[in-house]
Amino acid sequence: MVHVLEHPLIQHKLAILRDKHTSVKEFRELVGEISGLMCYEATRNLPTVEVEIETPVAPAKVRVLAGKKLAIVPVLRAGLGMVDKMVSLIPSAKIGHIGLYRDPETHKPVEYYCKLPEDIANRQVFLVDPMLATGGSAVASIDFLKARGCRNIIMMNIIGAPEGIREVEKAHPDVDIYLAAVDQGLNEHAYIVPGLGDAGDRIFGTK
Ligand code: PRP
Ligand code: URA
Repeated sequence: MVHVLEHPLIQHKLAILRDKHTSVKEFRELVGEISGLMCYEATRNLPTVEVEIETPVAPAKVRVLAGKKLAIVPVLRAGLGMVDKMVSLIPSAKIGHIGLYRDPETHKPVEYYCKLPEDIANRQVFLVDPMLATGGSAVASIDFLKARGCRNIIMMNIIGAPEGIREVEKAHPDVDIYLAAVDQGLNEHAYIVPGLGDAGDRIFGTK
């Protein structure tokens, strides 16, 4: 299922993020802020359980997160920009890393790193990467996670192209995708149009 988050705050911040004049510092901050707002929506259906506590005034029945523990898995590099704000909202989450880059000629993902929590199979995983372009990186990342036993995966991308969304839906129809925007499509370099350019370079200031 695809969820496009049209909240005004997300859309406003995304507009600034897309602007080519936005500085590296501001870009990085905005990726974090948008991720925090998206996390709020993407966690909306997590199960809760009732527990009893005592406030300073009286006993109270309250709800806390139940069920599976959580893991946040960024796709390196750009996904790293989404982690800090999410961890500040879900401090008990474990963090895994999947290292992939797109071959500039073939646009296919090349794996260079993968380190996941030992008990990843028992966790609700939030796979995060700002860009979903051809879908190659997303499909490969979900393949890794499933090969390690993960069955509960939610993906969060800031911008997606229809081509990439279709690829993920075809390969992994069980994975919910949360996006701040679905753009027109891809150009001849497999960049999202209008997109925001190269997310990794803009977060880390490498170009
Ligand atoms: C970007 C982005 C995704 C991938 C999306 O990473 O962060 O991981 O491209 O493209 P796809 O859907 O066509 O696979 P990139 O390969 O540029 O690596 P980087 O984050 O290290 O810059
Ligand atoms: N990766 C990016 O960072 N941007 C795109 O538009 C496509 C892939």
